[in-house]
Amino acid sequence: MQIITTIAKLRRVLAVDQKKGKTIGLVPTMGALHEGHLSLVKKSAKECDVTVVSIFVNPTQFGKSEDLDKYPRRLKKDAESVESAGASIVFAPSPEEMYPNGEQQTWVRNESLENAYCGKYREGHFRGVLTVVAKFFAITKADRAYFGKKDYQQAFLIRRMAEDLNFDIRVELLPTIREESGLARSSRNEYMSEIERANAAGIYRGLLAGKTAYDAGERRVSALRDIVMRPMLMSGIVVQYIEIADRKDLKPLHGLLKEEAVVLVAGFSGKTRLIDNLEF
Ligand code: PAJ
Repeated sequence: MQIITTIAKLRRVLAVDQKKGKTIGLVPTMGALHEGHLSLVKKSAKECDVTVVSIFVNPTQFGKSEDLDKYPRRLKKDAESVESAGASIVFAPSPEEMYPNGEQQTWVRNESLENAYCGKYREGHFRGVLTVVAKFFAITKADRAYFGKKDYQQAFLIRRMAEDLNFDIRVELLPTIREESGLARSSRNEYMSEIERANAAGIYRGLLAGKTAYDAGERRVSALRDIVMRPMLMSGIVVQYIEIADRKDLKPLHGLLKEEAVVLVAGFSGKTRLIDNLEF
C-alpha cells in the first residue's frame, strides 16, 4: 500500500491503473478510523481493482466554534488498518495541498438542503463537504465512491451532487455500523465519558421505538417524533432535532406519512454532539 500526499503524484499513479483498465474505488474519510469506515474500505476492495482511501480533516466543513483542532489525527494507525481492510492507496494531503489558494472562491452547494437538519446548526458545513468531495472526485476520476448512511444528509447530498452535476461516478451508500449498545460508531464517540457513552445508546433506542410504532401502523409524524424523543430524553440526551424526511428528496414531512421516510436525529450526550437516523 502506498501513502501519497500530493495531488500530482496521486494523478500519475491512478492514470497508470486507469490505462490498464483497472476500476478505481474511492473512500473519503477524515481519519480516526473505526469499523464503520473499514466496512466501506472492505466493500470497495471487493468491488474495485484499486481502492483509494483519502484521510483529510477538511477545514472548510468545520465551523469556527467546532472541533477542527481537537479532531483526532493518527495517520500511522489508520494506514495500518486500511491496509488490512484491502486499500491500495492512502491519500493524505495537507490543507495547503487541497486549498493552494488559501481562500476558496468556488463552492459546491445544495441550496435546497444545506440549511436543513444538521445544516441549520452547522453553518457552511455542507458546502465544505460537497466542495471537498467534488475535489476528490475530480482528482481521482474514480469509478465508484463509498459513503455511510450514518451521515444520512451528507450521503444524500453527495449522491444528489453527482446526479445534478453529471459526475461519472457511482455513489454507493452503505449501512451504519453500530456498537453493541446500538450507538452508531463515530470518531467522536471517544470524546465521551463511560456514562455519556452508555446514555448515548438512548438515541438508537428512540429510533427503534419509532420504527416499532411505525411497523404497528402509526403514521402521524408528530406522534412518531414524540415516540422517538422519549427514550432519548430518558437517557439524558439533549435533543437538537428530530425530523422525518422523504427519502426521495429529503424534504421534511408533516401530517400523515405516505412516503418512504427516514427519521433524522441529532442530540448531545454531555458535550458531544451525535447524529443518527433510521429508514422507515
Ligand atoms: P468521516 O466522518 O471520517 O466519515 C467517512 C465516511 O465513513 C462517511 O461516508 C461516513 O458516513 C462513514 N461512516 C462513519 N461512521 C460510520 C458508521 N458507523 N457506519 C458506516 N459508515 C460510517 O464524513 C466524513 O468523514 C467527511 O464529511 C467526508 C465525507 C470525508 C468529507 O470531508
